[in-house]
Amino acid sequence: MTSPDPLTPRLPSPHQEIRDDRFGRHGLRLLLKRDDLIHPDLVGNKWRKLVPNIAAAQGRALVTFGGAYSNHLRATAAAGRLLGVPTTGVVRGQELADRPLNPSLARCAADGMRLHFVDRPTYRRKTEPDTLAGILRAAGAEGAYVVPEGGSNAEAVRGCRALGVELGGHADVVAVACGTGGTLAGLAAGLPAGRRALGVPVLRGGFLEADVQALQERAFGARSGTWSLDDRFHCGGYARTPPELEVFARDFEQRHGLPVERLYVAKLLYGLVTLAEEGAFARGSTIAAVVTGRPFPEDPDGRPGTPPGLSRPL
Ligand SMILES: Cc1ncc(COP(=O)(O)O)c(C=O)c1O
Repeated sequence: MTSPDPLTPRLPSPHQEIRDDRFGRHGLRLLLKRDDLIHPDLVGNKWRKLVPNIAAAQGRALVTFGGAYSNHLRATAAAGRLLGVPTTGVVRGQELADRPLNPSLARCAADGMRLHFVDRPTYRRKTEPDTLAGILRAAGAEGAYVVPEGGSNAEAVRGCRALGVELGGHADVVAVACGTGGTLAGLAAGLPAGRRALGVPVLRGGFLEADVQALQERAFGARSGTWSLDDRFHCGGYARTPPELEVFARDFEQRHGLPVERLYVAKLLYGLVTLAEEGAFARGSTIAAVVTGRPFPEDPDGRPGTPPGLSRPL
Protein backbone atom coordinates (compact mmCIF):
# COMPACT_ATOMS: atom_id res chain seq x y z
CA MET A 1 0.00 0.00 0.00
CA THR A 2 1.44 3.41 -0.88
CA SER A 3 0.86 6.96 0.27
CA PRO A 4 -0.63 9.21 -2.42
CA ASP A 5 2.36 11.56 -2.27
CA PRO A 6 5.90 10.25 -1.79
CA LEU A 7 6.51 12.76 0.99
CA THR A 8 3.22 12.32 2.80
CA PRO A 9 3.26 9.82 5.65
CA ARG A 10 0.14 8.01 6.71
CA LEU A 11 0.02 9.36 10.27
CA PRO A 12 -1.45 8.48 12.64
CA SER A 13 -0.91 4.98 11.33
CA PRO A 14 -4.05 2.83 11.34
CA HIS A 15 -4.72 0.12 13.87
CA GLN A 16 -6.82 -2.93 13.21
CA GLU A 17 -8.34 -5.54 15.44
CA ILE A 18 -7.72 -9.09 14.37
CA ARG A 19 -9.58 -12.12 15.58
CA ASP A 20 -7.23 -14.79 16.73
CA ASP A 21 -8.43 -17.59 18.91
CA ARG A 22 -5.07 -17.83 20.70
CA PHE A 23 -5.93 -14.47 22.26
CA GLY A 24 -9.74 -14.68 22.21
CA ARG A 25 -9.86 -17.79 24.36
CA HIS A 26 -8.03 -15.95 27.11
CA GLY A 27 -10.46 -13.03 26.95
CA LEU A 28 -7.95 -10.80 25.13
CA ARG A 29 -8.33 -8.47 22.13
CA LEU A 30 -5.39 -8.13 19.74
CA LEU A 31 -4.78 -4.93 17.79
CA LEU A 32 -2.15 -4.51 15.11
CA LYS A 33 -0.71 -1.00 14.98
CA ARG A 34 0.12 -0.76 11.30
CA ASP A 35 3.27 1.36 11.32
CA ASP A 36 4.30 -0.68 8.26
CA LEU A 37 1.77 1.45 6.35
CA ILE A 38 3.22 4.85 7.33
CA HIS A 39 5.30 5.19 4.19
CA PRO A 40 6.26 2.78 1.38
CA ASP A 41 9.99 3.53 1.72
CA LEU A 42 10.29 4.73 5.31
CA VAL A 43 8.57 1.76 6.82
CA GLY A 44 7.57 1.23 10.42
CA ASN A 45 9.59 3.15 12.97
CA LYS A 46 11.81 4.65 10.26
CA TRP A 47 9.71 7.70 9.46
CA ARG A 48 9.25 8.40 13.16
CA LYS A 49 13.01 8.16 13.79
CA LEU A 50 14.54 9.69 10.69
CA VAL A 51 12.39 12.71 9.94
CA PRO A 52 13.25 14.46 13.26
CA ASN A 53 16.93 13.76 12.57
CA ILE A 54 16.73 15.23 9.08
CA ALA A 55 15.14 18.33 10.60
CA ALA A 56 17.94 18.52 13.18
CA ALA A 57 20.55 18.16 10.41
CA GLN A 58 19.36 21.47 8.92
CA GLY A 59 20.32 20.62 5.38
CA ARG A 60 23.60 18.87 6.17
CA ALA A 61 24.36 15.52 4.60
CA LEU A 62 23.64 12.46 6.75
CA VAL A 63 26.02 9.69 7.67
CA THR A 64 24.91 6.55 9.44
CA PHE A 65 25.93 2.96 10.16
CA GLY A 66 24.64 -0.53 9.63
CA GLY A 67 25.18 -4.13 8.68
CA ALA A 68 24.87 -5.54 5.20
CA TYR A 69 21.10 -6.09 5.52
CA SER A 70 20.27 -3.05 7.63
CA ASN A 71 16.68 -1.79 7.41
CA HIS A 72 17.93 1.46 8.87
CA LEU A 73 20.52 2.00 6.10
CA ARG A 74 17.88 1.37 3.43
CA ALA A 75 15.47 3.76 5.07
CA THR A 76 18.14 6.46 5.44
CA ALA A 77 19.05 6.12 1.77
CA ALA A 78 15.39 6.39 0.79
CA ALA A 79 14.91 9.43 3.02
CA GLY A 80 17.91 11.06 1.37
CA ARG A 81 16.45 10.45 -2.09
CA LEU A 82 12.99 11.70 -1.12
CA LEU A 83 14.19 14.79 0.71
CA GLY A 84 17.18 15.63 -1.45
CA VAL A 85 19.75 15.04 1.32
CA PRO A 86 23.10 13.38 0.45
CA THR A 87 23.68 10.23 2.51
CA THR A 88 26.67 8.07 3.37
CA GLY A 89 26.28 4.59 4.81
CA VAL A 90 29.16 3.13 6.82
CA VAL A 91 28.80 -0.62 6.39
CA ARG A 92 30.18 -3.23 8.81
CA GLY A 93 32.57 -5.60 6.99
CA GLN A 94 35.51 -4.47 4.88
CA GLU A 95 35.34 -7.81 3.05
CA LEU A 96 32.01 -6.76 1.48
CA ALA A 97 33.76 -4.01 -0.47
CA ASP A 98 35.03 -6.51 -3.05
CA ARG A 99 31.79 -8.43 -3.49
CA PRO A 100 28.71 -7.66 -5.54
CA LEU A 101 26.22 -5.64 -3.47
CA ASN A 102 23.46 -7.69 -1.87
CA PRO A 103 19.86 -6.57 -2.62
CA SER A 104 19.68 -4.42 0.49
CA LEU A 105 22.92 -2.52 -0.20
CA ALA A 106 22.06 -2.34 -3.90
CA ARG A 107 18.83 -0.58 -2.91
CA CYS A 108 20.84 1.86 -0.78
CA ALA A 109 23.18 2.59 -3.67
CA ALA A 110 20.28 3.00 -6.11
CA ASP A 111 18.84 5.58 -3.72
CA GLY A 112 22.06 7.54 -3.98
CA MET A 113 23.73 6.48 -0.73
CA ARG A 114 27.52 6.47 -0.82
CA LEU A 115 28.69 3.23 0.79
CA HIS A 116 31.86 3.08 2.85
CA PHE A 117 32.95 -0.30 4.17
CA VAL A 118 34.94 -0.64 7.38
CA ASP A 119 36.54 -3.61 9.09
CA ARG A 120 34.70 -5.10 12.04
CA PRO A 121 37.09 -4.00 14.84
CA THR A 122 36.92 -0.40 13.61
CA TYR A 123 33.15 -0.64 13.23
CA ARG A 124 32.83 -1.80 16.86
CA ARG A 125 34.71 1.30 18.03
CA LYS A 126 32.74 3.72 15.86
CA THR A 127 31.33 5.69 18.80
CA GLU A 128 34.81 6.53 20.13
CA PRO A 129 35.51 10.12 19.01
CA ASP A 130 38.90 9.42 17.37
CA THR A 131 37.65 6.36 15.53
CA LEU A 132 34.54 8.19 14.39
CA ALA A 133 36.60 11.12 13.14
CA GLY A 134 38.82 8.70 11.20
CA ILE A 135 35.83 6.94 9.64
CA LEU A 136 34.22 10.23 8.61
CA ARG A 137 37.50 11.45 7.09
CA ALA A 138 37.99 8.23 5.15
CA ALA A 139 34.36 8.27 3.99
CA GLY A 140 34.58 11.90 2.85
CA ALA A 141 31.76 12.69 5.27
CA GLU A 142 33.39 15.22 7.58
CA GLY A 143 30.82 17.81 8.63
CA ALA A 144 27.93 15.45 8.00
CA TYR A 145 25.20 14.96 10.61
CA VAL A 146 25.81 11.64 12.34
CA VAL A 147 22.83 9.35 12.94
CA PRO A 148 23.80 6.39 15.13
CA GLU A 149 23.41 2.75 14.15
CA GLY A 150 19.73 1.83 14.24
CA GLY A 151 18.83 5.51 14.18
CA SER A 152 18.23 5.67 17.93
CA ASN A 153 19.20 9.00 19.46
CA ALA A 154 17.27 11.58 21.45
CA GLU A 155 15.58 13.03 18.33
CA ALA A 156 14.44 9.58 17.21
CA VAL A 157 13.17 8.65 20.66
CA ARG A 158 11.18 11.87 20.87
CA GLY A 159 9.82 11.08 17.38
CA CYS A 160 8.64 7.65 18.54
CA ARG A 161 6.74 9.18 21.45
CA ALA A 162 3.89 9.86 18.99
CA LEU A 163 3.39 6.12 18.65
CA GLY A 164 2.31 5.94 22.29
CA VAL A 165 0.19 9.06 21.96
CA GLU A 166 -1.58 7.64 18.88
CA LEU A 167 -2.38 4.40 20.66
CA GLY A 168 -3.49 6.40 23.68
CA GLY A 169 -6.47 4.76 25.28
CA HIS A 170 -6.88 2.04 22.62
CA ALA A 171 -4.74 -0.61 24.32
CA ASP A 172 -3.79 -1.67 27.84
CA VAL A 173 -0.46 -3.15 26.78
CA VAL A 174 1.52 -2.08 23.70
CA ALA A 175 4.20 -4.49 22.60
CA VAL A 176 7.09 -3.78 20.24
CA ALA A 177 10.14 -5.68 19.01
CA CYS A 178 13.43 -4.10 20.10
CA GLY A 179 16.81 -3.80 18.43
CA THR A 180 18.43 -0.71 19.93
CA GLY A 181 15.35 0.02 22.07
CA GLY A 182 14.73 3.53 20.73
CA THR A 183 11.21 2.78 19.56
CA LEU A 184 10.23 1.32 22.95
CA ALA A 185 11.83 4.27 24.76
CA GLY A 186 9.68 6.76 22.84
CA LEU A 187 6.51 4.69 22.76
CA ALA A 188 6.51 4.13 26.53
CA ALA A 189 6.92 7.85 27.17
CA GLY A 190 3.91 8.66 24.98
CA LEU A 191 1.43 6.26 26.60
CA PRO A 192 -1.12 7.67 29.03
CA ALA A 193 -1.01 6.74 32.74
CA GLY A 194 -2.28 3.24 33.45
CA ARG A 195 -1.09 1.78 30.11
CA ARG A 196 2.18 -0.07 29.73
CA ALA A 197 4.69 -0.94 27.04
CA LEU A 198 6.35 -4.30 26.60
CA GLY A 199 9.57 -4.72 24.64
CA VAL A 200 10.63 -7.98 23.01
CA PRO A 201 14.39 -7.85 22.30
CA VAL A 202 15.50 -9.68 19.16
CA LEU A 203 19.13 -9.80 20.28
CA ARG A 204 20.57 -11.95 23.02
CA GLY A 205 22.43 -10.31 25.81
CA GLY A 206 20.06 -8.70 28.29
CA PHE A 207 21.72 -5.27 27.88
CA LEU A 208 18.65 -3.43 26.70
CA GLU A 209 17.15 -2.38 30.04
CA ALA A 210 20.07 -0.02 30.65
CA ASP A 211 20.09 1.17 27.02
CA VAL A 212 16.38 2.03 26.96
CA GLN A 213 16.67 3.88 30.25
CA ALA A 214 19.70 5.83 28.97
CA LEU A 215 17.83 6.75 25.77
CA GLN A 216 14.87 8.02 27.80
CA GLU A 217 17.16 10.03 30.06
CA ARG A 218 18.74 11.66 27.02
CA ALA A 219 15.42 12.33 25.29
CA PHE A 220 13.22 13.27 28.25
CA GLY A 221 15.56 13.84 31.18
CA ALA A 222 14.32 10.79 33.13
CA ARG A 223 12.94 7.29 32.85
CA SER A 224 9.41 7.74 31.47
CA GLY A 225 6.22 5.71 31.34
CA THR A 226 5.73 2.12 32.43
CA TRP A 227 7.70 -0.42 30.45
CA SER A 228 9.41 -3.77 30.77
CA LEU A 229 11.27 -6.24 28.60
CA ASP A 230 10.79 -9.95 28.05
CA ASP A 231 14.07 -11.44 26.93
CA ARG A 232 12.83 -14.93 26.04
CA PHE A 233 11.85 -14.51 22.40
CA HIS A 234 15.06 -13.68 20.50
CA CYS A 235 14.98 -17.25 19.08
CA GLY A 236 18.75 -17.64 19.35
CA GLY A 237 19.80 -14.09 18.54
CA TYR A 238 19.72 -11.45 15.86
CA ALA A 239 18.71 -12.75 12.43
CA ARG A 240 18.25 -16.27 13.77
CA THR A 241 14.99 -17.61 12.39
CA PRO A 242 14.63 -21.22 13.55
CA PRO A 243 12.11 -23.46 11.77
CA GLU A 244 9.45 -23.06 14.53
CA LEU A 245 9.52 -19.29 14.00
CA GLU A 246 9.20 -19.70 10.25
CA VAL A 247 6.22 -22.05 10.70
CA PHE A 248 4.65 -19.63 13.14
CA ALA A 249 5.13 -16.63 10.82
CA ARG A 250 3.72 -18.41 7.76
CA ASP A 251 0.72 -19.56 9.73
CA PHE A 252 0.14 -16.00 11.01
CA GLU A 253 0.37 -14.68 7.45
CA GLN A 254 -2.18 -17.21 6.27
CA ARG A 255 -4.57 -16.57 9.13
CA HIS A 256 -4.48 -12.80 8.91
CA GLY A 257 -3.18 -11.82 5.46
CA LEU A 258 -0.35 -9.79 7.00
CA PRO A 259 3.17 -10.06 5.53
CA VAL A 260 5.23 -10.84 8.64
CA GLU A 261 8.76 -9.44 8.76
CA ARG A 262 10.81 -12.24 10.28
CA LEU A 263 13.67 -10.61 12.21
CA TYR A 264 11.56 -8.40 14.45
CA VAL A 265 7.82 -8.66 13.92
CA ALA A 266 7.62 -12.48 13.86
CA LYS A 267 9.48 -12.69 17.18
CA LEU A 268 7.16 -10.09 18.70
CA LEU A 269 4.00 -11.94 17.61
CA TYR A 270 5.45 -15.29 18.69
CA GLY A 271 6.23 -13.80 22.10
CA LEU A 272 2.71 -12.38 22.46
CA VAL A 273 1.05 -15.69 21.61
CA THR A 274 3.24 -17.41 24.21
CA LEU A 275 2.50 -14.78 26.84
CA ALA A 276 -1.25 -15.05 26.17
CA GLU A 277 -1.01 -18.83 26.64
CA GLU A 278 0.88 -18.29 29.89
CA GLY A 279 -1.91 -16.07 31.21
CA ALA A 280 0.43 -13.08 31.42
CA PHE A 281 -2.33 -10.60 30.50
CA ALA A 282 -5.48 -9.95 32.57
CA ARG A 283 -8.72 -11.16 30.94
CA GLY A 284 -10.51 -8.27 29.27
CA SER A 285 -7.23 -6.59 28.25
CA THR A 286 -6.49 -5.20 24.81
CA ILE A 287 -2.98 -5.91 23.56
CA ALA A 288 -1.53 -3.89 20.67
CA ALA A 289 1.37 -5.26 18.63
CA VAL A 290 3.32 -2.64 16.69
CA VAL A 291 4.03 -3.82 13.14
CA THR A 292 7.38 -2.08 12.77
CA GLY A 293 8.42 -3.47 9.40
CA ARG A 294 7.72 -5.35 6.21
CA PRO A 295 9.65 -8.28 4.79
CA PHE A 296 12.57 -7.35 2.53
CA PRO A 297 12.92 -8.18 -0.24
CA GLU A 298 9.19 -8.46 -0.54
CA ASP A 299 8.18 -11.52 -2.43
CA PRO A 300 4.82 -12.79 -3.53
CA ASP A 301 4.98 -15.76 -1.13
CA GLY A 302 5.58 -13.42 1.77
CA ARG A 303 8.99 -15.01 2.35
CA PRO A 304 11.57 -12.64 3.75
CA GLY A 305 15.05 -12.39 2.39
CA THR A 306 16.66 -13.97 5.41
CA PRO A 307 20.11 -12.54 5.96
CA PRO A 308 22.54 -15.40 6.21
CA GLY A 309 24.34 -15.81 9.53
CA LEU A 310 24.33 -12.29 10.89
CA SER A 311 25.15 -11.78 14.53
CA ARG A 312 24.48 -8.06 14.98
CA PRO A 313 21.58 -5.89 13.91
CA LEU A 314 20.68 -2.89 11.88
C1 LIG B 1 11.48 -3.85 11.41
C2 LIG B 1 12.06 -3.33 12.67
N1 LIG B 1 11.37 -3.48 13.81
C3 LIG B 1 11.85 -3.06 14.99
C4 LIG B 1 13.09 -2.46 15.07
C5 LIG B 1 13.61 -2.08 16.42
O1 LIG B 1 13.72 -0.73 16.61
P1 LIG B 1 14.68 -0.15 17.74
O2 LIG B 1 16.08 -0.25 17.22
O3 LIG B 1 14.21 1.23 17.91
O4 LIG B 1 14.49 -0.99 18.96
C6 LIG B 1 13.86 -2.29 13.91
C7 LIG B 1 15.18 -1.65 13.97
O5 LIG B 1 15.40 -0.57 13.55
C8 LIG B 1 13.34 -2.73 12.68
O6 LIG B 1 14.03 -2.60 11.53
